[in-house]
Amino acid sequence: MQAVGAIPQKKEVAIVDHPRPSLHRDDEVLIKSLDVGICGTDREICTFVYGDPPANSDYLVLGHESLGVVSEVGSSVAGLKPGDLVVPSVRRPCSDPLCAPCQAGLQDFCATGHFVERGIKMAHGYMTEFYTEQEQYLHLVPASLRDVAVLVEPLTIAEKAMAQVWPIQNRLPWVKHHHPDGRPNGKGLNAVVLGAGPVGILGAMKLKAEGFNTFVYSRSRSPNPKAELVESLGVPYISALDTPVEALAERVGSIDLVYEAVGVSSIAYKVLSVLGLNGIYVFTGIPAPKAPIEVDADLIMRNVVLMNQVVVGTVNASGAAFKSAIEDLGVFMSRWPEAVQSLITRRCSVAQSRELLLDKATGIKNVIQF
Ligand code: BGC
Repeated sequence: MQAVGAIPQKKEVAIVDHPRPSLHRDDEVLIKSLDVGICGTDREICTFVYGDPPANSDYLVLGHESLGVVSEVGSSVAGLKPGDLVVPSVRRPCSDPLCAPCQAGLQDFCATGHFVERGIKMAHGYMTEFYTEQEQYLHLVPASLRDVAVLVEPLTIAEKAMAQVWPIQNRLPWVKHHHPDGRPNGKGLNAVVLGAGPVGILGAMKLKAEGFNTFVYSRSRSPNPKAELVESLGVPYISALDTPVEALAERVGSIDLVYEAVGVSSIAYKVLSVLGLNGIYVFTGIPAPKAPIEVDADLIMRNVVLMNQVVVGTVNASGAAFKSAIEDLGVFMSRWPEAVQSLITRRCSVAQSRELLLDKATGIKNVIQF
């Protein structure tokens, strides 16, 4: 069976011959891959600064953004049947009985660091024709989302971020408005998304849907395709070439929330220094190690204290974030169908996977079709 593998010893990315899996446990499901998205993490693994194969393998099957179709189910699988569309989560818990988050199903907060991540850390991923997974790590997707459900995993980043933001900001009367069902609403609050890649644009959709006055701040001068997509959501696109960071708060108003999805520390820290009173700043980017940069640390520290600011990082996602991402993707599709669809800029065959992983990044979300 074909799979796309990173081979650290040879520093090579290749289409490898991977054994076709079969069910070994009653609660397992055999899944046929449909779409696998490529993200910055995959590209980084291909530069061999990140990622580890499983202990018994000299290659790591890549891919953690997957949409598949159930092909066969184990005898105790109750909620899935052949033909169902599923999105698997990425991280699996550590085995330490004292790891409270993993024991509670919140391995995204694993406290030992001994978690594994499919396609990233010590477990094969989904860039292969078939894979197996336990039912508990699979999320049923409605057939109406077939074409876009490969975006669920990158959307879980915003879902988890907001699941952090709301309870953290409960520390003060932050919102004036609530949804009819009692959920807080960002109306009247200003949110800035840093970066116009897939994580940023999906984050902008989430923030806009939650009622925030949302802005996307990115480098490229507009007009450009990403800026047009962003503006089609009713979200102003601000180019850093026209509006320097120092002028951002003047343009936006007091910045209540920053959703960092740019992964570039210099710009991320500059924007942190203009966060507003009682503001919250969410880091999602994972920059590769580089030479240290200069930041105005006194200014940042002074602001964090004198302005009651919170800085929070968020990685990976729980089952709840996958569930809400699937729901929200449905909401986004009814509100902005063209914009959601145009996030997927290229669909390629397995034969073209090396090109997508190794050549200069282009487009927004590129997908390998199986
Ligand atoms: C994935 C996360 C993962 C993180 C760090 C991201 O690209 O979406 O699931 O936890 O990389 O490995």
